[in-house]
Amino acid sequence: MLIVLFGPPGAGKGTQATPVAERLGVPKVATGDVLRAAVRDGTALGLKAKAAMERGDLVPDDVILGIMKETLAKPESSRGAILDGVVRTIPQAEGLSSIVAELGRKVDAVLTFEVPDDELVRRLSGRTVCEKCQTPYTGREPGTRCDRCGGALVRRKDDEPEAVRNRLVVYRTQTAPVLDWYRKNGTRIVSIDATGTPDEVTKRALGALGRP
Ligand code: AP5
Repeated sequence: MLIVLFGPPGAGKGTQATPVAERLGVPKVATGDVLRAAVRDGTALGLKAKAAMERGDLVPDDVILGIMKETLAKPESSRGAILDGVVRTIPQAEGLSSIVAELGRKVDAVLTFEVPDDELVRRLSGRTVCEKCQTPYTGREPGTRCDRCGGALVRRKDDEPEAVRNRLVVYRTQTAPVLDWYRKNGTRIVSIDATGTPDEVTKRALGALGRP
């Protein structure tokens, strides 16, 4: 099962990717996590991505498609994957479609998480993430420890107010039109109410995939 998680920054894609992937028994692939790890490790990929990420702009399409090609060819992705924030432009949707077609597969569904804008800003302004495993938290101070892996919690540079405003504009102008592309291509799109508790949202997402 190859599922695209879609939605604006703060909609809960990262929060939902882990339980949904665990329930389906497939890996989660989050381009944001891959890029942040590369920035932290100072690799060539990280050097390419750092400035754009800190401003809240998108990283170039060829960089993202390179990551996807490599990741989806791995044996652990052979049964599918949960793609978190992977498709953010029409060229990325087209490129991903070609990559998966070469592997004899297709995107099975796009789950689009719906949350009002004021709630998005509230979530992002209170977020810290584990610098090791990237689990997001709300209302926990930087420096406290992650429940999952014991890593230190940090604030993301792109959660500063100016970068958040830019990310919302980038989402509306460059990413939201991708849904129309999938619609025209006949891909199943399911809108998920992503308000309420994370557990409630997980239930809705799994229900939409026929795995309650
Ligand atoms: P990325 O890390 O993917 O950021 P994003 O898409 O902006 O999404 P976020 O991580 O901000 O939000 P989310 O929807 O995952 O919400 P979360 O679960 O954390 O990408 C970062 C950057 O990398 C991009 O800006 C870009 O530069 C680059 N990049 C990545 N992929 C790219 C691509 N394909 N193309 C080009 N560039 C790319 O939740 C947010 C907060 O809300 C957390 O605190 C969480 O605890 C809380 N929360 C979650 N669910 C609930 C709930 N139900 N109720 C209350 N609080 C909740």
